[in-house]
Amino acid sequence: MTEAVPDDTRWFYLCTEDDLAVPNAFVTTRVGAVPLVAQNLKGRVVAFRNVCTHRFAIIHDAASGCGPLRCPYHGWTFDAEGVPVGLPFNPTDFQLDAEGRRRLALNPASLARCGRLVFVRVATEGPALKEQLGNDLFTRLADLSETFSRSGEPMEPGEDWEGFETANLRVALRAGHALHLEALPPPGAGDRFARTATFLPVHADTERPA
Ligand code: FES
Repeated sequence: MTEAVPDDTRWFYLCTEDDLAVPNAFVTTRVGAVPLVAQNLKGRVVAFRNVCTHRFAIIHDAASGCGPLRCPYHGWTFDAEGVPVGLPFNPTDFQLDAEGRRRLALNPASLARCGRLVFVRVATEGPALKEQLGNDLFTRLADLSETFSRSGEPMEPGEDWEGFETANLRVALRAGHALHLEALPPPGAGDRFARTATFLPVHADTERPA
């Protein structure tokens, strides 16, 4: 069966801000044929196509992790603008000056937040995340992400939990107790990019959901 090519301007949920909170933390996904990475580079969270501009190797193969934005092939390291700044053997092997390195900057992707939730898309231009989710749902999801900001042990939503879906997210809520997020992999991404997480209210609540 042929998989539909996803719209490049469509936003997909990637992770929470906590997943990208420390320098060099990264999370990857794939949208159709395009691998994407969001990474914290010296405190700045940016998104690129996860493809080296030198010989097109995948930069981060893992679904998430912590490490420099460095191509495993020839070891080029990229900065927050996507420009290769560390090029082993540059004087002998590549001879790239500043302008040459700028021309080989990584292709940018888009990153947007809804509260503490991070979304990415392939295209650099297109409708805002709020436009895709709709104003009401965007506001609700942002509020929920702020209210339920503590990571909890994974739990299965009960049948009596409220549920709704948006983008690639299935959201399940037990009001006042727990928020469960199930992120389906974008089209073409494969199951290793599926993510589930349970969050608890900001304030300690000793009662565990039934
Ligand atoms: S392919 Fe990435 S540095 Fe050469």
